[in-house]
Amino acid sequence: MPTEDQAAKRDDTRRRPALDPDADAMRQFGYALVDRLVDHLTTMSDQPVARRGTGADFSALVDEPLPAGAASLDDCLGFFFDRVAPGMTRVAHPRFHAYIPCPSSFAGMVGEMLAAGTNPFVGTWLGGATVSALELTVLRWLGEMLGYDPAAGGILTSGGSMANLIAIASARARYGPEVMQRGVIYLSREGHASVNKAARILGFQQAAIRTVGVDDDFRMDLEQLAGAVRTDRSNGALPFFVSANAGTTNSGAIDPLSDIADHCVAEDLWFHVDGAYGGFAALTPEGRELLDGMERADSLTLDPHKWLYCPMGVGCVLVREKRNLEAAFSADGHYLRDLPVDEVNFMDRGPELSRPGRALSVWMVIRSAGRDMLSTQIAEDMRLARLAADLLGEDDRLEVRGVGLSVVTFCHRLRPGESEAERAERDDALMEATLLEGELMLSTTLLGGRNTLRLVVMNHRTTEAELRRTIAGILKHAS
Ligand SMILES: Cc1ncc(COP(=O)(O)O)c(C=O)c1O
Repeated sequence: MPTEDQAAKRDDTRRRPALDPDADAMRQFGYALVDRLVDHLTTMSDQPVARRGTGADFSALVDEPLPAGAASLDDCLGFFFDRVAPGMTRVAHPRFHAYIPCPSSFAGMVGEMLAAGTNPFVGTWLGGATVSALELTVLRWLGEMLGYDPAAGGILTSGGSMANLIAIASARARYGPEVMQRGVIYLSREGHASVNKAARILGFQQAAIRTVGVDDDFRMDLEQLAGAVRTDRSNGALPFFVSANAGTTNSGAIDPLSDIADHCVAEDLWFHVDGAYGGFAALTPEGRELLDGMERADSLTLDPHKWLYCPMGVGCVLVREKRNLEAAFSADGHYLRDLPVDEVNFMDRGPELSRPGRALSVWMVIRSAGRDMLSTQIAEDMRLARLAADLLGEDDRLEVRGVGLSVVTFCHRLRPGESEAERAERDDALMEATLLEGELMLSTTLLGGRNTLRLVVMNHRTTEAELRRTIAGILKHAS
């Protein structure tokens, strides 16, 4: 006969079977998981960068009916590494040079594992005080690294898109409700689409968003900006927000930040800098010079999941006058009345209430690597981009259009009698051939109306040998 205690335990287990494995099983599984992840990282160079496939191709691999019953965690892990991982586009691959890479370092991965493992709630001070305090430290470090006002407010976001949205909402708080009727936002023709998208999400009509032209180097044309602001004011509109680029996505172009800052002061405009791609270049002496003026921004978008080697899912916005940030986002609710009002409740600085410990990956990277190491990594990315441009430029089938920070833009040379469309087809064919081979990944864009290939170096795994392998792969398919 079971004792009363044993019977109660058996009933408990029947009502609530264990969702977590026991301690030994968790440890064993955790070790196996780390082994698989380390294999994934250390064999990356020998794996294809990306695989083309349709929805049907990949669904055939990964889709299953909703499971009613249980499967072992080992089985789930095996499924992921057998069926999902092989087809992944490896954005952390040393020869992934498309878009803006997100290289993620081991320290970043470990920080993210800590966040998942300890599951802090960083929406409120009461819910996650120590991790909120850590986020404040990380925000101060980020500002200090780039020469930004140490008293600024800020928040870690899901990425640069959300950071740009928070910046516009903060500016709206400074200028008041009138901006929804008459406000005008200015961005350069080369500005990132997320700025325009954020403005529309916030309720601005397309007619309230002005696209300013660029010069031959794809930098915002200050005269055009000034002219547009003048015209809008004389038509009764309320210019209030200028978004400048600290490195455009297309070509790495840097807008004349200091001049735009002067203009914004003179015209009482909010000066926003989108540094999602290039902001961290200011960690290097060369970048600091190129990005002079960025530190004067009223708001600054950064993306640690790009050039700070953190895993996907962490951006940042710094806002000089934090009262505008908090005016835009602070919220109330009877269920929140226990919250201390004299501490930072991050729910008051962005749209999210429940939010994860984003600070942990950024903190782990900065604390373990240190500022100087990060500066060295970024400087090497920029050196390799220039080397790539030199090597591509030596081939007379190709024309290098420019190098901005670590973005190299290049294309095929126009042949006598060839149309621009035919030339563009050769660019696209090169991109496709290298991708199909799995050896490297580039991307294409339109730059100044012309089809262009882009090669971005932003990865601590991209050694000079890897870069030379990339260039050999490109030249093999150049036509
Ligand atoms: C200049 C710039 N701004 C904003 C973004 C959007 O950032 P995220 O993809 O992190 O949302 C990007 C993304 O590449 C970017 O390059």
